[in-house]
Amino acid sequence: MSRSAHPAGPRHADVLPEGHYSAPPADLNALDPKVWARTVRRDEDGVLTVGGRTVTELAEEYGTPAYILDEADFRDRARAWRTAFGTDADVFYAGKAFLSRAVVRWLDEEGLNLDVCSGGELATALSAGMDPARIAFHGNNKSVEEITRAVEAGVGRIVLDSFQEIARVAHIAQGLGKRQKAQIRITVGVEAHTHEFIATAHEDQKFGIPLAGGQAAEAVRRALTLDGLELIGIHSHIGSQIFDMSGFEVAAHRVVGLLKDIRDEHGVELPEIDLGGGLGIAYTSSDDPREPHEIAKALTEIVTRECEAARLRVPRISVEPGRAIVGPTAFTLYEVGTVKPLDGLRTYVSVDGGMSDNIRTALYDAEYSVALVSRSSDAEPMLTRVVGKHCESGDIVVKDAFLPADLAPGDLIAVPATGAYCRSMASNYNHVLRPPVVAVGDGEARVIVRRETEEDLLRLDVG
Ligand code: LLP
Repeated sequence: MSRSAHPAGPRHADVLPEGHYSAPPADLNALDPKVWARTVRRDEDGVLTVGGRTVTELAEEYGTPAYILDEADFRDRARAWRTAFGTDADVFYAGKAFLSRAVVRWLDEEGLNLDVCSGGELATALSAGMDPARIAFHGNNKSVEEITRAVEAGVGRIVLDSFQEIARVAHIAQGLGKRQKAQIRITVGVEAHTHEFIATAHEDQKFGIPLAGGQAAEAVRRALTLDGLELIGIHSHIGSQIFDMSGFEVAAHRVVGLLKDIRDEHGVELPEIDLGGGLGIAYTSSDDPREPHEIAKALTEIVTRECEAARLRVPRISVEPGRAIVGPTAFTLYEVGTVKPLDGLRTYVSVDGGMSDNIRTALYDAEYSVALVSRSSDAEPMLTRVVGKHCESGDIVVKDAFLPADLAPGDLIAVPATGAYCRSMASNYNHVLRPPVVAVGDGEARVIVRRETEEDLLRLDVG
C-alpha cells in the first residue's frame, strides 16, 4: 500500500459545475474542530492523529475503510449531556445512532440510560450488562417476541406507538404477572426543518398517535384502564438533525397541554415527559450546533414555564440524543484508489468503501467534509466528488469537496462526523464487507466492532 504522492494528471476545471460548495477553503490542511473529533490534530509531518495515534499506523494495523472513534470525545459528550440535564432529568442515548457493547459500557459508566428500538439493540444492551431498568424500548412495530423479552427483562419503559400496541403490551405484561411502565408516543403536528425522511412529528407518517382529533387523549384513556400498564408519561420526538429550538418549544407546549387535559379528566398528573432526540451536529463548517447545556436550559425552561401556566407539577424530563453524542466522535478512514479527472467537470476520487458504509449522502442528500490525512499538501485545491466502489452512480460519499490537486492513489482521506447512522446503517451491498469500528484514546487503539469477513458473508449463505 503506497502512501507516496503520484501526480495523477491535470484535473483543473476552468468552469466549476453547479453544487453545494462555495469557494475552496483558504487552507486545505486545516481541520475545523467543529466537524472533527476532539483529539484530532496534525502531527509535525502533517499526518492526522487521533487519541494519540496516527492514521497511517491505524490504516496499517486495521486496514481501510475503518470507522475511527475517539473514545474520550464520546465519553466527554455523553457526560456533558448528563451534567447539563442534572439529576432531575434522564438522558437516554439513542442506540440506533451506533451501538456496540463497548458503547453500552461507556454509557453505563457515564450515567446515561439507553433507548433501544429492536430486539437486536435490546440484546446488545443486555449482553453488555446494562441495567434493564435504564432501558427504554421504542418502535412502531415491536413484535410479540420483542415485547415479551423486554417485559421479562424488566425494561424501565416501553414507549407505546399505537392503539394496538397499548392493548398488546398490556396483555403480554398481564400474562407475565407484571405491570409494565410505559409512555405513549404522540405526534404533536410540528414540521421540523429537516429532511422529510427524518422528520417525525407531522401527522402523515408512521410514528406515534396524533394529538389531533383527540386520538392521544383516547389512547391515554385506554392505557389508564389496563392492569398490565403503568402509564408514566408522554413521549414526543420531532425529527433529526434539527438546529432550531422552536420545534421543541411547540412540542413541549402541546405535550404539557395534554398532561393538563389528563389531569383535568382523570385527576392524574403523569410524572414524566420525554422530548426525544434530534439535535443537529456539524457535518460541514457551515453548521452551528448548540451545546448540551444550552439545549438543557432551553428545554427545561420551556417545560417549567408551560407547567407553571397550566398549574402542573413539573414532570421529570428525559431526552434521547443519539447523533449529538456519537456523530462527531468518529471519522471514516479510506484509502484513495482511482483518481479520475473529467475535463471541464471535476475529479472523481474513488475510495475503498462507499454507500455500504455511508448511505446518508445517497439517502438524504447529506453533506460531508473530507480531508487528505496521511500527509499535508501545498497543492492547489481541486474540485472533487468522493465516490465509493459500488456498482451504482449514486454511490457518493461526499458530493462536492475540495482536495489537494496532487491527491493520488494510496493517499488516505477521512470523512469526519460519521459516528452516527453510518456503521449502524451499513450494508453488504455488492458483498462489500462492513468496516470495523476502532476506538482510540491515550495512544491505544482497539477494535470494538471487527471488520466483516468473507467467512461471515458465506456463513449466512446456506443454499
Ligand atoms: N428518539 C427517537 C424516538 C428516535 O426515533 C430517534 C431517531 C432518536 C431519539 C435519536 O435521534 P438523533 O438524536 O440521533 O437525531 N438515519 C437518519 C436518522 C434517523 C433517526 C431516527 N430516529 C440519519 O442518518 O440522519
